[in-house]
Amino acid sequence: MKRITVALLLLLLSSGSVKPAVERASIPDDEFLVIAHRGASAYAPPHTLTAYELAIQMGSDYIELDLHMTKDGKLVALHDSYLTFQDTEQAIADVTFNDLQLYLPGEEFNERNPRYASPIYKQLRIVELEDIFHHFGGSVNYYIELKSPKKYPGIEEELLRQLRANNLLSSENVIPPVIIQSFSEDSLKSIFDMEPSIPLIKLYSFSKDAHLSKKKLGKLKKYASGVGVNVDSVTKEFIESMHKEGLVVHPFTVNDEKTIRKLIKLGANGVFTDKPDIAVRAKSEESSLDAD
Ligand code: G3P
Ligand code: CA
Repeated sequence: MKRITVALLLLLLSSGSVKPAVERASIPDDEFLVIAHRGASAYAPPHTLTAYELAIQMGSDYIELDLHMTKDGKLVALHDSYLTFQDTEQAIADVTFNDLQLYLPGEEFNERNPRYASPIYKQLRIVELEDIFHHFGGSVNYYIELKSPKKYPGIEEELLRQLRANNLLSSENVIPPVIIQSFSEDSLKSIFDMEPSIPLIKLYSFSKDAHLSKKKLGKLKKYASGVGVNVDSVTKEFIESMHKEGLVVHPFTVNDEKTIRKLIKLGANGVFTDKPDIAVRAKSEESSLDAD
């Protein structure tokens, strides 16, 4: 009977009517990852080459990018779906990349952050994802968020095209060169179907303590390597429950050293931070305490 079942299964597999389960990619869980949120965005205008360069100098493991698509199909790193420039609020989906050059990220940063303001920042402009890839190549690891992907049909395909064209999907390093994150399960699943080698992080924002039902976990484990969750919802129990399922936990967004140290002790696997210098220091000091 068993032989017949195996033979039937082999027949179905060879006919293509049953697909073998594809393994989700993994992220090493023995290193606390410093994810520079929008670059070193506490100190320089977010999502600019300057903010990313600073993050790398500070020793970040990843630079984080939020991705949108302009009307003319260009992928750009920006946080919001809408931007106010030239006194008008406009959707990124409705403007061209050239239009976006009128937005001055440095002016906004300087107004909001007098402590770190610099006249040099006024020269900065929004850059295309492709320019970021050309600028840094494989010298950095990318942690990319698909923001509001439903607004941008084809964004997943274009992102994968650029990653492949720039040869960014493989590296000799222990940690993966690219991680993709999203609040959208559909978008992550579509990436998984097209390129299962990329580790995927499903984002959640919980209003109370973080928790996932068995049903949700079951679905998640089929494609995701971990979760990104708002830091105020994270508990030790949640982290342990995710680890039991082979999922890493990356809380967002944390800029104070005390909380980062607490997360390391709780077993979180990384942190999104606007101040990567602080997280790098906390990580290094906590690991030397561990070694004692
Ligand atoms: O991507 C994780 C975290 O960055 C989500 O928050 O709004 O800053 O993209 P947000
Ligand atoms: Ca983000």
